[in-house]
Amino acid sequence: MNKKDDALRSLKETKPMAWENDRLGPSEDVLRELPLTMSDVADADGRLHRFAPYLASRFPKTANGIIESPLSEAKNLKKTLEKSYGTTLPRLLLKKDNDLPVAGSIKARGGIHEILALAEAIALRSGKLEIDRDYRILKEPEFKELFSRHSVAVGSTGNLGISIGVMSAELGFNVTVHMSRDAKGWKKELLRSKGVKVVEHDDDYSAAVSEGRRICREDKTCHFVDDENSRLLFVGYAVAALRLRNQLKEMKVIVDKTHPLRVYLPCGVGGAPGGIAFGLKQLYGDSVKCWFVEPTHAPCMALAMVQDTPDITVSDYGIDGITEADGLAVGAPSKLVWSICRKLIDGVMTVEDDRLYELQYLMDRSESVKAEPSAAAGLQGPLLLSPLPGETAISWLTGGSFLPDEIYEDMLKKGRTLLEDPVLPDETDL
Ligand SMILES: Cc1ncc(COP(=O)(O)O)c(C=O)c1O
Repeated sequence: MNKKDDALRSLKETKPMAWENDRLGPSEDVLRELPLTMSDVADADGRLHRFAPYLASRFPKTANGIIESPLSEAKNLKKTLEKSYGTTLPRLLLKKDNDLPVAGSIKARGGIHEILALAEAIALRSGKLEIDRDYRILKEPEFKELFSRHSVAVGSTGNLGISIGVMSAELGFNVTVHMSRDAKGWKKELLRSKGVKVVEHDDDYSAAVSEGRRICREDKTCHFVDDENSRLLFVGYAVAALRLRNQLKEMKVIVDKTHPLRVYLPCGVGGAPGGIAFGLKQLYGDSVKCWFVEPTHAPCMALAMVQDTPDITVSDYGIDGITEADGLAVGAPSKLVWSICRKLIDGVMTVEDDRLYELQYLMDRSESVKAEPSAAAGLQGPLLLSPLPGETAISWLTGGSFLPDEIYEDMLKKGRTLLEDPVLPDETDL
């Protein structure tokens, strides 16, 4: 574990690091001081349930209209990682947001929640919808016509754009996604195929967000989904904690002082991991330990945590912000999320892009899991930290099932090449 000065040096040198938060407070005290509470999360959960019949009818792949992903034991991967990296891991579970229906990533819960909240507010205001109606009525042409008089805009590295774009287009909004230069071509094409307007910016994520925000402000009918500041996104992400609690109960995983749960969350601007960490701390208090993982070349939240200020960009530290983990290619953290997480999360760590490709390949080999490089970041946690007594670890796989096959195959080849020297596990062990 790195001390502050060491941590900062490693960050500047783009070397992997892990820093334990020395401002961490007892979660009960920290949560009491925050501007959001569990009732905000319960509101979001209630809204997602009101929309479930509508979502089930529009997206049959969702189970009963609840957009959720499986939690699964990863015994083979645990063995594979132990052999490949010569280490011992705790019990390892995978939270498979890479398989989330509709939007294929961790950004789905928050993004879809914000668009549903917008649609609900407009529909209620119009007098055409009451809160206790069957929301399947929203499929009717009169609602499409109503929503078509409104526009939605968002800045994205890709995956938030997919959730916002898919949901907004389905309801009938005019939707524009402002994409940063890191966004992958296939994500842009997917959005265009759904009738979403994609504007490409030859700049980083923060610039794409500012430009989108500015353009949207000029149009009175435009709602800007602000990934850097949105509470609706944040509470939507936090709903995942309620769902995870049920899944842990079903798997009979105990979480208490003697059975700590460590959760490793890939982090970009901070919203999705921040929301989930907030929800989990509400449910499990100090028995859950939440760590954020970022690429060594885009460690904006790690810098903000170590330096104790959100007013930083990675370029201030001579870091280029360039990474193959496109979902995490963010140069400046969300100030809202930083202020919530400052005393709440347990630590931050970084991972090199080459390691992401290796982990992506090993996941495919041992668990047949299709994840994108950003998602593989969640596996860095158990590799960097020694297990606590009684620990269960969850690596949050944040996206990947929408990756086109040929691109995915190329990524796997890269991972296999990188792993040529380290010991690959014997097939018979799996
Ligand atoms: C696959 C993936 N993982 C993790 C994240 C991180 O989420 P956030 O930017 O809210 O920190 C993103 C963000 O787009 C993502 O696409």
